[in-house]
Amino acid sequence: MQMSEFKRRRRELMRMMGPGSIAILPTAPLLIRNRDVHFPYRPDSDFFYLTGFPEPEAVLVLIPGRKQAEYILFNRESDPVKELWDGARAGQEGACEKYAADDSFPIGDLNDILPRMLEQCERIFYVMGCNPKFDKRLSEWINEIRCESRSGVQGPVEIIALDHYLHEMRLYKSRSELKVMRQAARISAKAHKKVMQSCKPGVWEYQLEAEFVRECSHQGSRAQAYPPIVGAGANACTLHYIDNNCQAQAKQMLLIDAGCEYDYYASDITRSYPVNGRFSEPQRQLYELVLAAQDAAIEKVKPGNHWNDPHDAAVRTITRGLIKLGIIKGTLAKSIREEKYKPFFPHRTGHWLGMDVHDVGDYKVDGAWRMLEPGMALTIEPGLYIPTGSKGVAKKWWNIGIRIEDDVVVTKEGCEVLTKDVPKRVAEIESVMAT
Ligand code: GLY
Ligand code: MN
Ligand code: MN
Repeated sequence: MQMSEFKRRRRELMRMMGPGSIAILPTAPLLIRNRDVHFPYRPDSDFFYLTGFPEPEAVLVLIPGRKQAEYILFNRESDPVKELWDGARAGQEGACEKYAADDSFPIGDLNDILPRMLEQCERIFYVMGCNPKFDKRLSEWINEIRCESRSGVQGPVEIIALDHYLHEMRLYKSRSELKVMRQAARISAKAHKKVMQSCKPGVWEYQLEAEFVRECSHQGSRAQAYPPIVGAGANACTLHYIDNNCQAQAKQMLLIDAGCEYDYYASDITRSYPVNGRFSEPQRQLYELVLAAQDAAIEKVKPGNHWNDPHDAAVRTITRGLIKLGIIKGTLAKSIREEKYKPFFPHRTGHWLGMDVHDVGDYKVDGAWRMLEPGMALTIEPGLYIPTGSKGVAKKWWNIGIRIEDDVVVTKEGCEVLTKDVPKRVAEIESVMAT
């Protein structure tokens, strides 16, 4: 992502904030995994969206209209000894030169400098409740200023939800964001195809996970957008199964839900197929039903339709199919009304996708489902899961878990399926798995 993109975003946000405002946004903290070991660091998405700054221990401050500097970054100082162990730091010079901050201060000076900036402003734009430690510091700074009110210091009078503005911006993907998301999708698509070709009876779920991650790294993405879900047989019926520690058997279905993160943007793909590469009749029947539901849902992704239209289409197709297969009983309308599909299709058909896999953005506006508009990115992922012991359901359907998930972007005419390179028709899957 080019620096000009981050600059454009800051400018847009500052235009919405107006003069007399200050935005304060800390990045994510470093998290300890155990003792001296940290989790791999990932900056906060909102912070990175505005800065492109990848280091921990940093706080963004925006003060639109301020003469000396509008964009101020508090970040770590250069430190040759620490840098010897952990790698280079931008320092104050790098923050201005490389990341285009108008001014930069050591993060340790925040307590001294930020309250002085706050007292000049009437409105604070801030995300409350995400970082309790920082929330506490902010309220202390505000109290400090209030204590000085007798000496004529005015200070801020309003705290405004920064996330409301930022998340609305993040919901509409720009051309450069779509370029990155296409690349994330392409990489994950290649990795899914590799896994499909490596799947065979006796393989361990973690071996397939390893194949996925290896191919993503090989293609230029080292991060996963979320821990891969690789489940065979009954494990495919656990929606967020991440143990990935069982051996796949010939007659089972395998479900793999995995997606890389590329340049801080997520992809999110699920495919389901028989471990031995040939669908049995019950597996094929359920699979074709989920696929038909996904086709029907994708058909509904276009401007003018609302957020829930794809889900409604998937529910309708799935319910009709379940009745036809004898898995549920009743008329279509009554079964939909009574949500008889729900024990087998318990989740929704998708979510926004972007820097976060479950990306930000409201799904409803003023109490009504949001209209789809060009630039919005989402997943379409209907599923069917029939665990052992499902009451009133013939045994031949048990332990089949199927989800088919693609990433789509709303265009002027309809939608673009970013993840179309991963096979999903029955004949395609059987042919890829036979090679
Ligand atoms: N991979 C998580 C999801 O599909 O929502
Ligand atoms: Mn998803
Ligand atoms: Mn997924």
